[in-house]
Amino acid sequence: MQFKKIGVVGCGLMGSGIAQVAADAGYETFVQEVDDGLLEKGLSSIDRFLSKGVERGKLDEKRKSEILSRIHGTTRLAELEEVDLVIEAIIEDLEVKKKVYAALENLVRPDTVFATNTSSLCITELAAGTRRPDLFVGLHFFNPVPLMKVVEVIATLSTEPEVRDAVTGFARSLGKTPIQAPDRPGFVVNRLLVPYLLDAIRALEEGAGTKEDIDAGMKLGCGYPMGPFELLDFVGLDTTLYIANIMYDEFKEKRFAPPPLLRRMVLGGRMGRKSGKGFYDYS
Ligand code: CAA
Ligand code: NAD
Repeated sequence: MQFKKIGVVGCGLMGSGIAQVAADAGYETFVQEVDDGLLEKGLSSIDRFLSKGVERGKLDEKRKSEILSRIHGTTRLAELEEVDLVIEAIIEDLEVKKKVYAALENLVRPDTVFATNTSSLCITELAAGTRRPDLFVGLHFFNPVPLMKVVEVIATLSTEPEVRDAVTGFARSLGKTPIQAPDRPGFVVNRLLVPYLLDAIRALEEGAGTKEDIDAGMKLGCGYPMGPFELLDFVGLDTTLYIANIMYDEFKEKRFAPPPLLRRMVLGGRMGRKSGKGFYDYS
């Protein structure tokens, strides 16, 4: 099983990064968004990242143009009809994701592999809603996709071993280190990371320290590249809330429950960096 053409659904924070690394590795990549404005936003973020790479001497203008020429942005899902592997990276909402798979099912070949970048949803449940659970896997990238080296590969009880191996090989071809993870909310990394992030919010709510001091403590005391509040803003508070709710629903454990402050910040439109304001102000 060999993938040549890759489809990416969603060109937000993650979809844009996934499209970039796929094109960088030589794959013709078709990335779809809901409207022209969001597509433009996603494609510009790829351009910006590559331009910064040129400034840093990581690649040259020729290579940048080659990568961009392999990325085909569209608002029509139908343009993904010839791809060999689709990676879905839209919002963390089961019903919306199910609708995308239903639409894809009628468009692509019967042997096209479906992968989801979900952070916390049940892969088995997503796969069961399609006519190809044997060709369905979780492929969980980390943010920022071009810089984070690990990718979790999640095979379900129905996934064909050949499909799991092909997708694992695909992750390797992107220069990533694939790790196999179970189909449990949070897989390996978020199971450990999300309770830590939620606990930082609870510590703030309880007056344990200011966000600046908590961030400085974790960066300078533990060597983390970002403090928990910087990371929450980076991941997106809406995405974190979706993930926490899904993990809490499954495990009913307090450590996964979203703290009241997180819910209120999202309701108030503070999504983190992507909305210009989260725990910090980016305006
Ligand atoms: N092009 C090419 N290379 C670039 C680049 C660009 N545009 N921007 C940065 N880089 C390279 C730099 O050159 C540097 O590489 P070298 O070490 O080889 O020089 C490296 O990337 C780091 O760059 P910087 O030193 O400028 O950046 P930084 O120190 O501020 O680090 C960061 C940025 C990598 C994002 C770092 O802050 C970090 O690791 N943060 C934590 C991110 C994290 O935890 N992500 C996971 C989130 S959880 C998730 O994703 C799962 C989920 O489901 C929610
Ligand atoms: P995001 O909000 O930045 O992007 C999601 C994009 O999906 C938006 O641009 C939206 O317009 C688009 N979208 C929504 N419905 C769509 C549809 N029907 N068709 C096409 N596009 C549609 O979110 P994100 O952070 O990129 O997260 C995407 C997925 O990746 C989620 O499942 C999330 O859990 C997962 N994830 C996120 C992170 C992170 O750090 N943010 C890390 C790993 C995985």
